Amino acid sequence: MKVLVTGGAGYIGSHTCLELLQAGHEVVVVDNLRNADRQALTRVMELAGRELAFYQFDLRDEEQLARVFYAHRMDSVIHFAGLKAVGESVSIPLEYYANNLGCTLALCRQMAAHGVHDVIFSSSATVYEQGNRMPLREEARLGCTNPYGWTKFMGEQILRDAAAADSRLSVVLLRYFNPIGAHPSGRIGEDPAGIPNNLLPYITQTALGRLERLTVHGDDYDTPDGTGVRDYIHVVDLAQGHLKALDYAAAHRGAVAINLGTGQGYSVLDILHAFEKVNRVKVPYVVGPRRPGDIATVYADPGLARELLGWQARLGIEDMCRDAWRWQKNNPQGYRGA
Ligand code: NAD
Ligand code: UFG
Repeated sequence: MKVLVTGGAGYIGSHTCLELLQAGHEVVVVDNLRNADRQALTRVMELAGRELAFYQFDLRDEEQLARVFYAHRMDSVIHFAGLKAVGESVSIPLEYYANNLGCTLALCRQMAAHGVHDVIFSSSATVYEQGNRMPLREEARLGCTNPYGWTKFMGEQILRDAAAADSRLSVVLLRYFNPIGAHPSGRIGEDPAGIPNNLLPYITQTALGRLERLTVHGDDYDTPDGTGVRDYIHVVDLAQGHLKALDYAAAHRGAVAINLGTGQGYSVLDILHAFEKVNRVKVPYVVGPRRPGDIATVYADPGLARELLGWQARLGIEDMCRDAWRWQKNNPQGYRGA
């Protein structure tokens, strides 16, 4: 297949491009590099031993996007492009709506104009309303607590409505849980700008000595050890889920939402201790207050992905911790140090 990957230079996008190339697909990336580095794609091509086509521009620029669709007969699209920082979305909400919804609308219009009907969309477990029973099934109640989450909720709705209006469309809305880890080569990985907000990059940068200590955001939740429980999924498993979703999209029409998680919850301390054990490093930490907006426990029911896509996560928490550390250790400054 020839696949347009928007946001393909980013964390999940780069891992997915590698899996696509290794599976023999042709890959065309559009990314404005707002939150990514060209190095990621160079390394993807090195690892795969194959080339991909890369265009650097804002996906909302429909003239340039139309040129890409003219230049390549695309079979399908994987749409990662978007801004993703929850806290930042609260400070600059209009920028989040404009960017994330603008990208999705531009893409839908150009797909329609060029007769491309299959799209996989990066959604998030954050679209589920707080207060649902765990594990989360796809039909659980939806509702968000921040602008980023609403852009995912609305992105899903835009694509569902587009599919309802055009029976040729095939839309797979993938709701990711907590992607962590890196490619086992240690060549590509997560490279957040500034001080990380998410747990794993914070742990790896603390282990490196770049940050003094991890703050555990609350240990008084109603969980086995009092710290927050999440469904962490290895980014390579997640990337492979997209290849399965492409096959599913090619064989079906209409819109469907599917969780990509492991179904297994781990606490902050579980992750911290697993990381220290498999990597034989110390990660100093203190317990602080709860982080506003966090909830105690989130994990997926991954049954639908197994049933519809024939996909399930294979890699465990040790793999995730080992691979995240290999990437960080080999690239202490991320791609910037290259
Ligand atoms: P990322 O920031 O590494 O990748 C997103 C990419 O999109 C970046 O390379 C960025 O430069 C690009 N981009 C942003 N706006 C663009 C625009 N207007 N035009 C062109 N390119 C643009 O993030 P990621 O972690 O790889 O996430 C990929 C997708 O998955 C995002 O849509 C994100 O919201 C979603 N998601 C991520 C997580 C997570 O925890 N990482 C969880 C759930 C969903
Ligand atoms: N945590 C800490 N200290 C830190 C960072 C995180 O204790 O320095 C804890 C959090 O309180 C939470 C857990 O680690 O209990 C995971 O936090 P992350 O910030 O890594 O991830 P979240 O579950 O908060 O959110 C992530 C993405 C969202 C996405 C969501 C989907 O950041 O974009 O997963 O479930 F929507």
